[in-house]
Amino acid sequence: MTRCTDDPEPQEPTQESADVEITRREFLAASGVVSAGVALGLSPEAAAQEARRASATAPPNMVPLSISINKQRHNLTVDTRTSLLDLLREHLDLTGSKKGCDHGQCGACTVLLNGRRVNSCLTLAVAAQGAEITTIEGLGTPDNLSLAQRSFLEHDGFQCGYCTPGQICSATALMDEARRGELSVISFETGRLHNPQITEDEIRERMSGNICRCGAYPNIVAAVRQLTLTGGAE
Ligand code: FES
Ligand code: FES
Repeated sequence: MTRCTDDPEPQEPTQESADVEITRREFLAASGVVSAGVALGLSPEAAAQEARRASATAPPNMVPLSISINKQRHNLTVDTRTSLLDLLREHLDLTGSKKGCDHGQCGACTVLLNGRRVNSCLTLAVAAQGAEITTIEGLGTPDNLSLAQRSFLEHDGFQCGYCTPGQICSATALMDEARRGELSVISFETGRLHNPQITEDEIRERMSGNICRCGAYPNIVAAVRQLTLTGGAE
């Protein structure tokens, strides 16, 4: 291989560079964030990899957590790295909320936190300290379905059903948001800034955080549309 004369000679690792490496690991473990790695001169990809490695090897930091889930109080001790989704699925056996992407991109993990929809894969369990969480298991029962659950059933708003718990939690929150007069980008486009009508365009926009790989969108929109026509109050 030809070498440019300005290229530095390859360096053997020295004790000093090993110390720098340890310090970098420790720093990343302590901060646990990618931006810390970038600040240390790593590429974003390398920083993300380092942060993941540092986080995986760091000792757990266990803290007390008091949380209400589907109206039942839980007093737990959790690792600060535990996501709300993992708490529900892995620790409390509430497997209705699904893990699709674990990156906040599909909405399969949507639950209600104090009545607002959140991606539970992106929510740390400790961030829900003292909160009221409602999952699909808390919306209705097989013998007493919620209005949203009934509407999805009546309109065949699902195929494989994997995205459905998240879709139904989202639709439930959407109705509350509409009642509060909250706006979407469609409301601004149509100029309806007071009591926006929940049209099909509004439904598609407001449900756009919930992906359905089966493509059951027409029936999902029809199910939510019926909810809006009936008021959708639980
Ligand atoms: S699993 Fe949370 S958004 Fe996909
Ligand atoms: S029904 Fe299969 S992913 Fe939506």
